[in-house]
Amino acid sequence: MLRFMSAGESHGECMVAIIEGLPAGLYIDENIINQDLFRRQQGYGRGGRMQIERDTVKILTGLKAKKTLGSPITLMIKNKDFKINELPAITQPRPGHADLSGAIKYGFSDMRCVLERASARETVVRVAAGAIAKIFLSEFGIKISSKVISVGGQTNSKKIKEKIDFARNKKDTLGGIFEVAVMNVPAGLGSYVHYDRRLDARLALALMSIPAIKAVEFGMGFEAANKLGSQVHDQISYSLKKGFFRLTNNAGGLEGGMSNAQTIIARCGMKPIATLGNPLKTIDFKTKKPVKASVQRSDISAVEAAGVIGESMSALVIADAFMERFGSDDLRRIKKAFKLK
Ligand SMILES: Cc1cc2nc3c(=O)[nH]c(=O)nc-3n(C[C@H](O)[C@H](O)[C@H](O)COP(=O)(O)O)c2cc1C
Repeated sequence: MLRFMSAGESHGECMVAIIEGLPAGLYIDENIINQDLFRRQQGYGRGGRMQIERDTVKILTGLKAKKTLGSPITLMIKNKDFKINELPAITQPRPGHADLSGAIKYGFSDMRCVLERASARETVVRVAAGAIAKIFLSEFGIKISSKVISVGGQTNSKKIKEKIDFARNKKDTLGGIFEVAVMNVPAGLGSYVHYDRRLDARLALALMSIPAIKAVEFGMGFEAANKLGSQVHDQISYSLKKGFFRLTNNAGGLEGGMSNAQTIIARCGMKPIATLGNPLKTIDFKTKKPVKASVQRSDISAVEAAGVIGESMSALVIADAFMERFGSDDLRRIKKAFKLK
Protein backbone atom coordinates (compact mmCIF):
# COMPACT_ATOMS: atom_id res chain seq x y z
CA MET A 1 0.00 0.00 0.00
CA LEU A 2 1.40 3.39 -1.04
CA ARG A 3 0.61 6.07 1.52
CA PHE A 4 1.95 9.41 2.58
CA MET A 5 1.53 11.93 5.36
CA SER A 6 2.43 15.58 5.31
CA ALA A 7 3.35 18.01 8.07
CA GLY A 8 4.18 21.68 8.23
CA GLU A 9 2.68 25.16 8.50
CA SER A 10 2.57 27.81 5.79
CA HIS A 11 5.01 30.14 7.62
CA GLY A 12 6.69 27.44 9.69
CA GLU A 13 10.22 26.27 9.14
CA CYS A 14 9.47 23.68 6.46
CA MET A 15 6.97 21.32 4.88
CA VAL A 16 7.58 17.57 5.17
CA ALA A 17 6.14 14.40 3.66
CA ILE A 18 6.86 10.77 4.44
CA ILE A 19 5.99 8.34 1.65
CA GLU A 20 5.78 4.67 2.48
CA GLY A 21 5.21 1.73 0.18
CA LEU A 22 7.51 2.35 -2.79
CA PRO A 23 9.58 -0.57 -4.06
CA ALA A 24 13.36 -0.87 -3.75
CA GLY A 25 15.53 -0.07 -6.76
CA LEU A 26 13.85 3.06 -8.15
CA TYR A 27 16.29 5.80 -9.22
CA ILE A 28 15.14 9.21 -7.96
CA ASP A 29 16.39 12.32 -9.74
CA GLU A 30 15.71 15.31 -7.49
CA ASN A 31 15.65 17.61 -10.53
CA ILE A 32 12.47 15.91 -11.72
CA ILE A 33 10.80 16.67 -8.38
CA ASN A 34 12.04 20.27 -8.51
CA GLN A 35 10.63 20.71 -12.01
CA ASP A 36 7.15 19.85 -10.75
CA LEU A 37 7.63 22.13 -7.74
CA PHE A 38 8.46 24.91 -10.19
CA ARG A 39 5.36 24.11 -12.29
CA ARG A 40 3.20 24.35 -9.14
CA GLN A 41 4.40 27.93 -8.68
CA GLN A 42 3.48 29.04 -12.19
CA GLY A 43 0.34 30.40 -13.81
CA TYR A 44 -1.12 33.83 -14.51
CA GLY A 45 -2.77 35.32 -11.44
CA ARG A 46 -0.48 33.98 -8.73
CA GLY A 47 0.30 36.18 -5.71
CA GLY A 48 3.41 37.65 -4.11
CA ARG A 49 4.49 34.51 -2.33
CA MET A 50 5.45 32.87 -5.61
CA GLN A 51 8.18 35.48 -5.99
CA ILE A 52 9.54 34.78 -2.50
CA GLU A 53 9.65 31.01 -2.75
CA ARG A 54 11.65 28.95 -5.22
CA ASP A 55 10.82 25.56 -3.85
CA THR A 56 13.44 22.83 -3.87
CA VAL A 57 13.24 19.42 -2.24
CA LYS A 58 15.66 17.80 0.13
CA ILE A 59 15.37 14.02 0.47
CA LEU A 60 16.25 13.07 4.03
CA THR A 61 15.64 9.32 4.17
CA GLY A 62 14.88 6.22 2.12
CA LEU A 63 17.60 6.44 -0.54
CA LYS A 64 21.11 5.02 -1.02
CA ALA A 65 23.08 6.29 -3.99
CA LYS A 66 19.81 7.93 -5.21
CA LYS A 67 17.98 4.57 -5.33
CA THR A 68 15.00 3.70 -3.12
CA LEU A 69 15.56 1.11 -0.38
CA GLY A 70 11.89 0.22 0.07
CA SER A 71 11.97 2.11 3.36
CA PRO A 72 9.99 5.32 4.04
CA ILE A 73 11.16 8.35 2.06
CA THR A 74 11.18 11.72 3.83
CA LEU A 75 10.88 14.83 1.69
CA MET A 76 11.54 18.30 3.08
CA ILE A 77 10.92 21.69 1.49
CA LYS A 78 12.05 24.78 3.39
CA ASN A 79 9.72 27.76 3.76
CA LYS A 80 11.72 30.83 2.82
CA ASP A 81 8.94 32.90 4.44
CA PHE A 82 9.54 31.35 7.92
CA LYS A 83 8.02 33.83 10.41
CA ILE A 84 5.14 32.02 12.07
CA ASN A 85 5.99 33.41 15.51
CA GLU A 86 6.21 37.03 14.37
CA LEU A 87 2.93 37.27 12.48
CA PRO A 88 0.04 39.18 14.13
CA ALA A 89 -3.11 37.44 15.36
CA ILE A 90 -6.19 37.45 13.10
CA THR A 91 -9.71 37.64 14.50
CA GLN A 92 -11.72 38.35 11.32
CA PRO A 93 -12.55 34.95 9.75
CA ARG A 94 -12.58 34.89 5.93
CA PRO A 95 -15.74 33.48 4.26
CA GLY A 96 -14.82 30.51 2.07
CA HIS A 97 -11.90 29.49 4.28
CA ALA A 98 -11.34 27.08 7.15
CA ASP A 99 -10.90 30.09 9.50
CA LEU A 100 -14.22 30.14 11.42
CA SER A 101 -15.03 26.43 11.68
CA GLY A 102 -11.37 25.65 12.42
CA ALA A 103 -11.26 28.18 15.26
CA ILE A 104 -14.49 26.80 16.77
CA LYS A 105 -13.27 23.21 16.40
CA TYR A 106 -9.79 23.62 17.89
CA GLY A 107 -10.61 26.35 20.43
CA PHE A 108 -8.55 29.17 18.88
CA SER A 109 -9.41 32.86 18.88
CA ASP A 110 -6.51 33.60 16.51
CA MET A 111 -7.41 32.47 12.96
CA ARG A 112 -3.72 32.27 12.12
CA CYS A 113 -3.56 29.04 14.13
CA VAL A 114 -6.02 27.62 11.56
CA LEU A 115 -4.85 29.14 8.30
CA GLU A 116 -1.22 28.22 8.82
CA ARG A 117 -2.14 24.58 8.23
CA ALA A 118 -5.32 25.02 6.12
CA SER A 119 -3.29 27.00 3.56
CA ALA A 120 -2.67 25.42 0.15
CA ARG A 121 1.05 25.76 0.93
CA GLU A 122 0.66 22.17 2.20
CA THR A 123 0.21 21.01 -1.37
CA VAL A 124 3.91 21.66 -2.07
CA VAL A 125 4.82 18.35 -0.46
CA ARG A 126 1.95 16.56 -2.21
CA VAL A 127 3.54 17.67 -5.47
CA ALA A 128 6.96 16.39 -4.32
CA ALA A 129 5.44 13.04 -3.27
CA GLY A 130 3.45 12.89 -6.51
CA ALA A 131 6.60 13.52 -8.54
CA ILE A 132 8.12 10.40 -7.00
CA ALA A 133 4.97 8.44 -7.88
CA LYS A 134 5.31 9.80 -11.44
CA ILE A 135 8.95 8.65 -11.60
CA PHE A 136 7.75 5.16 -10.62
CA LEU A 137 4.93 5.18 -13.19
CA SER A 138 7.24 6.41 -15.96
CA GLU A 139 9.18 3.12 -15.62
CA PHE A 140 6.04 1.54 -17.11
CA GLY A 141 5.33 4.18 -19.75
CA ILE A 142 2.52 5.81 -17.75
CA LYS A 143 2.40 9.58 -18.24
CA ILE A 144 0.33 12.25 -16.49
CA SER A 145 -0.44 15.75 -17.69
CA SER A 146 -2.87 18.54 -16.89
CA LYS A 147 -4.30 21.59 -18.60
CA VAL A 148 -6.52 24.53 -17.76
CA ILE A 149 -9.96 24.19 -19.37
CA SER A 150 -11.39 27.49 -18.16
CA VAL A 151 -10.94 30.33 -15.67
CA GLY A 152 -13.97 32.34 -14.58
CA GLY A 153 -15.93 30.77 -17.46
CA GLN A 154 -13.39 31.85 -20.14
CA THR A 155 -11.69 29.18 -22.24
CA ASN A 156 -9.48 31.26 -24.54
CA SER A 157 -6.03 31.91 -23.00
CA LYS A 158 -5.99 35.61 -23.96
CA LYS A 159 -9.50 36.09 -22.52
CA ILE A 160 -8.44 34.19 -19.38
CA LYS A 161 -5.61 36.68 -18.80
CA GLU A 162 -7.99 39.61 -19.38
CA LYS A 163 -10.48 38.11 -16.92
CA ILE A 164 -7.74 37.66 -14.31
CA ASP A 165 -6.60 41.28 -14.85
CA PHE A 166 -10.23 42.38 -14.45
CA ALA A 167 -10.56 40.43 -11.19
CA ARG A 168 -7.23 41.82 -9.94
CA ASN A 169 -8.35 45.40 -10.65
CA LYS A 170 -11.63 44.74 -8.85
CA LYS A 171 -9.64 43.21 -5.96
CA ASP A 172 -11.63 40.04 -6.57
CA THR A 173 -10.70 36.42 -7.38
CA LEU A 174 -11.54 33.61 -9.80
CA GLY A 175 -11.80 29.83 -9.93
CA GLY A 176 -11.92 27.53 -12.93
CA ILE A 177 -11.71 24.03 -14.33
CA PHE A 178 -8.62 21.91 -15.01
CA GLU A 179 -8.27 18.50 -16.60
CA VAL A 180 -5.87 15.71 -15.67
CA ALA A 181 -5.02 12.97 -18.21
CA VAL A 182 -3.29 9.69 -17.28
CA MET A 183 -1.98 7.90 -20.37
CA ASN A 184 -0.93 4.26 -20.98
CA VAL A 185 -2.64 2.87 -17.87
CA PRO A 186 -3.08 -0.91 -18.16
CA ALA A 187 -6.60 -2.36 -17.79
CA GLY A 188 -7.69 -3.67 -14.40
CA LEU A 189 -6.24 -1.20 -11.88
CA GLY A 190 -8.71 -0.81 -9.00
CA SER A 191 -11.59 -3.26 -8.65
CA TYR A 192 -15.36 -3.66 -8.86
CA VAL A 193 -15.46 -6.04 -5.86
CA HIS A 194 -15.66 -3.49 -3.05
CA TYR A 195 -16.49 0.23 -2.78
CA ASP A 196 -13.15 1.33 -1.41
CA ARG A 197 -11.19 -0.50 -4.10
CA ARG A 198 -12.86 1.35 -6.97
CA LEU A 199 -10.29 3.39 -8.87
CA ASP A 200 -12.77 6.15 -9.76
CA ALA A 201 -13.72 6.54 -6.09
CA ARG A 202 -10.08 6.63 -5.01
CA LEU A 203 -9.22 9.22 -7.65
CA ALA A 204 -12.26 11.32 -6.72
CA LEU A 205 -11.20 11.33 -3.05
CA ALA A 206 -7.64 12.32 -3.94
CA LEU A 207 -8.73 15.12 -6.29
CA MET A 208 -11.47 16.39 -3.95
CA SER A 209 -8.88 16.66 -1.17
CA ILE A 210 -7.14 19.49 -3.02
CA PRO A 211 -8.10 22.79 -1.35
CA ALA A 212 -10.84 24.67 -3.21
CA ILE A 213 -11.83 21.72 -5.45
CA LYS A 214 -15.61 21.46 -5.33
CA ALA A 215 -16.44 19.17 -8.27
CA VAL A 216 -14.81 16.19 -9.95
CA GLU A 217 -16.02 14.38 -13.07
CA PHE A 218 -14.59 11.61 -15.22
CA GLY A 219 -14.87 11.45 -19.00
CA MET A 220 -18.22 12.82 -20.12
CA GLY A 221 -19.11 13.32 -16.45
CA PHE A 222 -22.27 15.31 -15.70
CA GLU A 223 -23.10 15.62 -19.41
CA ALA A 224 -23.66 11.83 -19.65
CA ALA A 225 -26.66 12.17 -17.33
CA ASN A 226 -28.57 14.01 -20.10
CA LYS A 227 -27.82 11.60 -22.97
CA LEU A 228 -29.00 8.25 -24.32
CA GLY A 229 -26.95 5.16 -23.48
CA SER A 230 -26.08 4.78 -27.16
CA GLN A 231 -24.50 8.26 -27.09
CA VAL A 232 -22.44 7.54 -24.00
CA HIS A 233 -21.03 4.01 -23.75
CA ASP A 234 -17.76 3.33 -25.55
CA GLN A 235 -18.14 0.48 -28.05
CA ILE A 236 -15.53 -2.29 -27.91
CA SER A 237 -13.34 -3.28 -30.84
CA TYR A 238 -10.30 -5.51 -31.41
CA SER A 239 -7.25 -5.51 -33.67
CA LEU A 240 -4.12 -7.70 -33.61
CA LYS A 241 -1.92 -4.64 -33.15
CA LYS A 242 -3.93 -2.88 -30.43
CA GLY A 243 -5.78 -5.79 -28.79
CA PHE A 244 -9.08 -4.68 -27.26
CA PHE A 245 -9.81 -0.99 -27.67
CA ARG A 246 -12.72 1.46 -27.56
CA LEU A 247 -14.11 3.51 -30.41
CA THR A 248 -14.59 6.51 -28.07
CA ASN A 249 -13.51 7.42 -24.53
CA ASN A 250 -16.59 8.95 -22.94
CA ALA A 251 -16.00 6.89 -19.78
CA GLY A 252 -12.70 8.69 -19.25
CA GLY A 253 -10.78 5.41 -18.98
CA LEU A 254 -12.81 4.08 -16.05
CA GLU A 255 -15.48 1.37 -16.05
CA GLY A 256 -16.70 -0.77 -13.15
CA GLY A 257 -14.27 0.90 -10.76
CA MET A 258 -11.29 -0.15 -12.90
CA SER A 259 -9.04 1.34 -15.51
CA ASN A 260 -10.04 0.11 -18.99
CA ALA A 261 -6.73 0.92 -20.75
CA GLN A 262 -8.06 4.14 -22.30
CA THR A 263 -6.65 7.47 -21.12
CA ILE A 264 -8.04 8.39 -17.71
CA ILE A 265 -9.60 11.84 -17.93
CA ALA A 266 -10.61 13.74 -14.78
CA ARG A 267 -11.92 17.28 -14.69
CA CYS A 268 -11.98 19.35 -11.49
CA GLY A 269 -13.93 22.50 -10.66
CA MET A 270 -12.09 24.96 -8.41
CA LYS A 271 -13.96 27.65 -6.48
CA PRO A 272 -12.60 31.23 -6.57
CA ILE A 273 -9.72 32.00 -4.18
CA ALA A 274 -11.29 32.79 -0.81
CA THR A 275 -9.07 35.74 0.22
CA LEU A 276 -10.41 38.85 -1.50
CA GLY A 277 -8.45 42.11 -1.76
CA ASN A 278 -11.84 43.79 -1.39
CA PRO A 279 -12.88 41.71 1.62
CA LEU A 280 -16.33 40.25 2.30
CA LYS A 281 -18.39 40.90 5.39
CA THR A 282 -17.71 38.84 8.46
CA ILE A 283 -17.99 38.96 12.26
CA ASP A 284 -15.01 39.61 14.50
CA PHE A 285 -14.44 36.41 16.48
CA LYS A 286 -13.79 38.27 19.76
CA THR A 287 -16.05 41.36 19.66
CA LYS A 288 -18.89 39.72 17.66
CA LYS A 289 -19.18 43.02 15.75
CA PRO A 290 -19.50 43.21 11.91
CA VAL A 291 -16.11 43.77 10.26
CA LYS A 292 -14.39 43.10 6.94
CA ALA A 293 -12.60 39.75 6.53
CA SER A 294 -8.85 39.68 6.98
CA VAL A 295 -6.70 40.16 3.88
CA GLN A 296 -3.62 37.97 3.46
CA ARG A 297 -1.18 38.08 0.57
CA SER A 298 -2.98 35.93 -1.96
CA ASP A 299 -3.43 34.55 -5.44
CA ILE A 300 -6.11 35.96 -7.76
CA SER A 301 -6.45 32.58 -9.45
CA ALA A 302 -4.45 29.35 -9.20
CA VAL A 303 -6.14 26.90 -11.60
CA GLU A 304 -2.95 25.98 -13.48
CA ALA A 305 -1.14 25.21 -10.20
CA ALA A 306 -4.14 23.22 -8.96
CA GLY A 307 -3.83 21.14 -12.15
CA VAL A 308 -0.24 20.24 -11.23
CA ILE A 309 -1.47 19.21 -7.77
CA GLY A 310 -4.20 17.17 -9.51
CA GLU A 311 -1.51 15.34 -11.49
CA SER A 312 0.36 14.61 -8.26
CA MET A 313 -2.65 13.27 -6.38
CA SER A 314 -3.65 11.15 -9.40
CA ALA A 315 -0.09 9.79 -9.69
CA LEU A 316 -0.14 8.66 -6.05
CA VAL A 317 -3.47 6.84 -6.53
CA ILE A 318 -2.47 5.21 -9.83
CA ALA A 319 0.92 4.12 -8.45
CA ASP A 320 -0.82 2.57 -5.44
CA ALA A 321 -3.32 0.67 -7.63
CA PHE A 322 -0.53 -0.34 -10.03
CA MET A 323 1.50 -1.89 -7.21
CA GLU A 324 -1.55 -3.75 -5.89
CA ARG A 325 -1.78 -5.43 -9.27
CA PHE A 326 1.88 -5.98 -10.15
CA GLY A 327 3.73 -6.06 -6.80
CA SER A 328 5.45 -3.50 -4.63
CA ASP A 329 8.74 -4.80 -3.17
CA ASP A 330 11.38 -4.86 -5.86
CA LEU A 331 11.26 -2.81 -9.08
CA ARG A 332 12.82 -5.61 -11.18
CA ARG A 333 10.19 -8.11 -10.09
CA ILE A 334 7.38 -5.60 -10.70
CA LYS A 335 8.72 -5.15 -14.26
CA LYS A 336 8.63 -8.92 -14.82
CA ALA A 337 5.05 -9.14 -13.55
CA PHE A 338 4.06 -6.18 -15.75
CA LYS A 339 5.50 -7.87 -18.87
CA LEU A 340 3.32 -10.93 -18.21
CA LYS A 341 0.15 -8.85 -18.01
C1 LIG B 1 -2.69 25.99 -5.72
C2 LIG B 1 -3.62 26.68 -4.79
C3 LIG B 1 -3.35 27.96 -4.37
C4 LIG B 1 -4.20 28.63 -3.53
N1 LIG B 1 -3.89 29.91 -3.15
C5 LIG B 1 -4.72 30.56 -2.31
C6 LIG B 1 -4.42 31.89 -1.89
O1 LIG B 1 -3.40 32.48 -2.27
N2 LIG B 1 -5.29 32.50 -1.05
C7 LIG B 1 -6.44 31.89 -0.61
O2 LIG B 1 -7.18 32.50 0.11
N3 LIG B 1 -6.76 30.65 -1.01
C8 LIG B 1 -5.92 29.97 -1.82
N4 LIG B 1 -6.24 28.69 -2.23
C9 LIG B 1 -7.53 28.13 -1.86
C10 LIG B 1 -7.65 27.79 -0.42
O3 LIG B 1 -6.62 26.94 0.00
C11 LIG B 1 -9.02 27.15 -0.20
O4 LIG B 1 -10.02 27.89 -0.83
C12 LIG B 1 -9.37 27.08 1.24
O5 LIG B 1 -8.43 26.25 1.90
C13 LIG B 1 -10.76 26.54 1.50
O6 LIG B 1 -11.02 25.55 0.57
P1 LIG B 1 -11.97 24.34 0.90
O7 LIG B 1 -13.31 24.85 1.21
O8 LIG B 1 -11.91 23.49 -0.32
O9 LIG B 1 -11.33 23.66 2.08
C14 LIG B 1 -5.38 27.99 -3.07
C15 LIG B 1 -5.65 26.69 -3.48
C16 LIG B 1 -4.80 26.03 -4.33
C17 LIG B 1 -5.11 24.64 -4.76
